[in-house]
Amino acid sequence: RTARFTLDPAFTVGTVDPRLFGSFVEHLGRCVYTGVFEPGHPTADADGIRGDVLDLVRELGVTAVRYPGGNFVSGYRWEDSVGPVEERPRRLDLAWRSTETNRFGLSEYISFLRKIGPQAEPMMALNLGTRGVAEALQLQEYANHPGGTALSDLRAEHGDKDPFGIRLWCLGNEMDGPWQTGHKTAAEYGRTAAETARAMRQLDPGVQLVACGSSGRSMPTFAEWEATVLQETYDLVDYISLHAYYEPLDGDVDSFLASAVDMESFIEDVVATCDHVGARLKSRKKINLSFDEWNVWYMSRTDEQVSALDWPEAPRLLEDSYSVLDAVVFGSLLIALLRHADRVAVACLAQLVNVIAPIMTEPGGPAWRQTTFFPFAQASKYGRGEVLDVRVDSPTYATEKYGEADLLHATAVRGEDGTVTVFAVNRSRTEPLPLDVALNGLGLTSVTGHSVLADADPDARNTLAEPERVVPHAGEGTTLDGGRLTAVLEPLSWNVIRLA
Ligand code: AHR
Repeated sequence: RTARFTLDPAFTVGTVDPRLFGSFVEHLGRCVYTGVFEPGHPTADADGIRGDVLDLVRELGVTAVRYPGGNFVSGYRWEDSVGPVEERPRRLDLAWRSTETNRFGLSEYISFLRKIGPQAEPMMALNLGTRGVAEALQLQEYANHPGGTALSDLRAEHGDKDPFGIRLWCLGNEMDGPWQTGHKTAAEYGRTAAETARAMRQLDPGVQLVACGSSGRSMPTFAEWEATVLQETYDLVDYISLHAYYEPLDGDVDSFLASAVDMESFIEDVVATCDHVGARLKSRKKINLSFDEWNVWYMSRTDEQVSALDWPEAPRLLEDSYSVLDAVVFGSLLIALLRHADRVAVACLAQLVNVIAPIMTEPGGPAWRQTTFFPFAQASKYGRGEVLDVRVDSPTYATEKYGEADLLHATAVRGEDGTVTVFAVNRSRTEPLPLDVALNGLGLTSVTGHSVLADADPDARNTLAEPERVVPHAGEGTTLDGGRLTAVLEPLSWNVIRLA
């Protein structure tokens, strides 16, 4: 059966905030060391930033880059990470049982972002696990105050005369999780977050603040946590965070393929909770969403890896290798984010390099693109503008976790120049899916490209030995005729169809 939908410029979801294509650099494993930063690497610049990685980061098209954690942030002492490198202390990182050398710190992070280009924006996470209001304010003053105070002058003394201009701040990380150093109840965290936010706004009313939501939809405190935290912070914060990771459990690939069903429900549940608190407070303000950690992550393998560590520097951790199957699910997660662009303002692919990442590196050796690199780069490049409302009429398939799920998952974005990009996933593992899209009043006359990520082997992946085993190819037979787009989506495929 054919899957169908209609596109009409009168029916839109919302405008895409560029920060929907954010990412995340945590001091975890080799994300920073031998990932982004490797002095002595043949491509490294004078600051130790790997040129090959920088080129791939630019190609990937990331915008906001969250830093420095993650679970790491709950033990982070910002002052360890500034000033002369040789004087910076080595510290135990309790979250990842590693040793942090602080050779890469705040100034290096900002300089990395500036090298990426103007599209890259800092998103700084604060330690509200083992620290609080005072340290958050000190960091804010050090980073953002122009000069003439002890901390802002210290920054200049450290070589950074210009303020870092950090606008977007996360008030802690996953504070609902018992694994978090300094874990809190919702009431405890809500008060800390509110007082930190109030103080930060005294320093600069223009900051944008993200309160911690749940670290996952399956947390026992989910929704109640958000309601309690927002009751305390509603007028003081801009966003609430969501985190979600997906993997095939017990070999249930069909449910894994429908992971975005869960992601979309998660978003809708959090929106409902935000609006419920807003209604209770009789507020006209809307709290939007920062989906600041999302990805496919084979997480069930992680605990064992971490507990075996004996405080090494930059160990190989969470270095998942992504297959074509993973990339199709990953693309579907991107579609879920775009379909909720009216409320999801920020989203961070966790993470950027080596650690559950689209970019992999070998110390002293090459960098390469994982399969997930392609959907992200294409969505960031073409998914800018107005999201059109897509309501699919699709054949379905049975899943253990989500019941009947649509075989087609899709969205469409109209750029400022009037061109439209359709992003579509065929979840069928075996069957091609015919697609028929009615185009109303969009003035579109031609297909300018159809890119497909699919492979006869769904387990195919890019590796050090074979870094270009999987790359997108051109789709065949896609046509636009008389206001109708027709295509056949290959089994288990991610598709980007460009219309002008
Ligand atoms: O991204 C990896 C980890 O996942 C982060 O440190 C933490 O916030 C989450 O649990």
